Amino acid sequence: MTPVKLISAVRTYEELEGAPGREVFFRPHRFRSAELLPLHSTVALVVNDVLIQCPLHDVSQNGAAFEWPAHALPAIGNRLDQLAVTFDRFEAYRGEARVGSVREVEGVTIVGVSFEGPLLPVDDVLNLRALATWPRAGADVVRPSIWRVEGADRYKVLVSDLALFLEDAEEDLTRLEKELPWHVLHGEDGSPARLALIDRLKVSFVSEVVRATEEIDAAFRPVDPKSVPALREWSRRHLHDYFLQSPVMLRAFQKPFGYPGDYEVMRFLYEKPFEGPTLFAKAMSLAFDQTKAGVAVRGRKDVVKARLRSMIESRETPLRFLSVAAGPAQELFELLTELPFLPAPVELVLFDQDKGALGYAFRRLRPLVEARWAGKVKLVYLNESIKTLLTNETLFAGLGQFDAIFCSGLYDYLQPATAVRLTRTLEAQLAPGGIAMIANITPENPCRWYMEQHLDWKLIHRSRPELLEIARRAAPGAHREILEEASGVNPFVQITRG
Ligand SMILES: C[S@@+](CC[C@H](N)C(=O)[O-])C[C@H]1O[C@@H](n2cnc3c(N)ncnc32)[C@H](O)[C@@H]1O
Repeated sequence: MTPVKLISAVRTYEELEGAPGREVFFRPHRFRSAELLPLHSTVALVVNDVLIQCPLHDVSQNGAAFEWPAHALPAIGNRLDQLAVTFDRFEAYRGEARVGSVREVEGVTIVGVSFEGPLLPVDDVLNLRALATWPRAGADVVRPSIWRVEGADRYKVLVSDLALFLEDAEEDLTRLEKELPWHVLHGEDGSPARLALIDRLKVSFVSEVVRATEEIDAAFRPVDPKSVPALREWSRRHLHDYFLQSPVMLRAFQKPFGYPGDYEVMRFLYEKPFEGPTLFAKAMSLAFDQTKAGVAVRGRKDVVKARLRSMIESRETPLRFLSVAAGPAQELFELLTELPFLPAPVELVLFDQDKGALGYAFRRLRPLVEARWAGKVKLVYLNESIKTLLTNETLFAGLGQFDAIFCSGLYDYLQPATAVRLTRTLEAQLAPGGIAMIANITPENPCRWYMEQHLDWKLIHRSRPELLEIARRAAPGAHREILEEASGVNPFVQITRG
């Protein structure tokens, strides 16, 4: 603790000396009228039975100076009756005044007077000035309630309800955090106490947040589109600060690479569900990890992994796979880690526009392949965008045909025409009997509200018939079917080349 600094010598009253006499002579401060803006300052007085209004030059609590109009000049010592000094509508002084000076300032006659009546309350004038400049001249003192809109009562109640729940939870988890050893909170994944903590959170905090977000999503769906901006504001005011304590939510919201769902966001969902600087932040991360969108990401990854594995295990000739929008290539990493053996060589082509994503996949896959599958697995990285793929038909030239092409987390951003063209291009790369698996999130996605309203993360949701229709338009002669994953909101259309 910083020691309190003691004043070295406290003096008694008898030792106090005051200041040299002239320095304590009190002269009230004069304020130029410009200093009192935006208040409009005027001096009113009657001259020759006529009321005249003069602009104020300066004022103090015991006198004022003002511009004298073109009337006959007063003499020094003259008494002026009923002189009034007004600031906007506040009459700060009314009474007698005595002329003390008459001078010319830049061609204007300035008359200085001292008040004979009460002192002018300068503090009141300064307070009025402060009020007039706050918040902005002309604006209402209270900002407009952009969150206010008629209706959507259930939605508003549910959002406020969740905010109160999170407020309590933050308090409780902060208290619990102080009692837990550091390594339980922030240490190695997989320690028994840490796993127990995660389990406890899952059955309490997490399930409540997941339930509440799904309920809010359902209440948000029927709202009038015109109310959406106000309702978004309502929700952000209540919940945003809680949500964004979770690093995955913060990254999804900030989009540091300029696009949503980058490979770091995906890594949170695959590898780091319990991240954050505090227990509450970690609990918040875990809650979002357990919402359907998080479950869907892992569910679709498992579907791809299982499909590739069964192809590998049932084939004795070389296989070639293409991952479009590969991201961190989690399914390949897990597959190459878990496979007990490889009956035949496999070539894996990873296609992504983000060099960082491919770099991350490379850092994980290369040592794994060198350690377990040297000479059996070949990795090829293509740092290209689908824009190029759609205009350059030779992009895959020399790479041969593929036994499986899979694509998750990309079509959710593609307009129908692009989706059809890409599907057609991909189907053309398939070997006879080869499959293309294309995932797309469905409109039932119960995370839509928080993704759109809190994270500005908009997806193009597609129903199963819409997904099948894209495949039909792209590959009318191919066999098409829907494959489901665990969450039920992120199916694939699987196209099998005849
Ligand atoms: C949501 S992630 C999905 C990654 C991976 N498929 C998965 O499910 O884990 C989307 C990926 O698509 C890539 N991507 C986005 N637009 C692309 C484009 N136009 N061309 C190629 N890749 C793209 C991103 O770089 C990112 O790695």
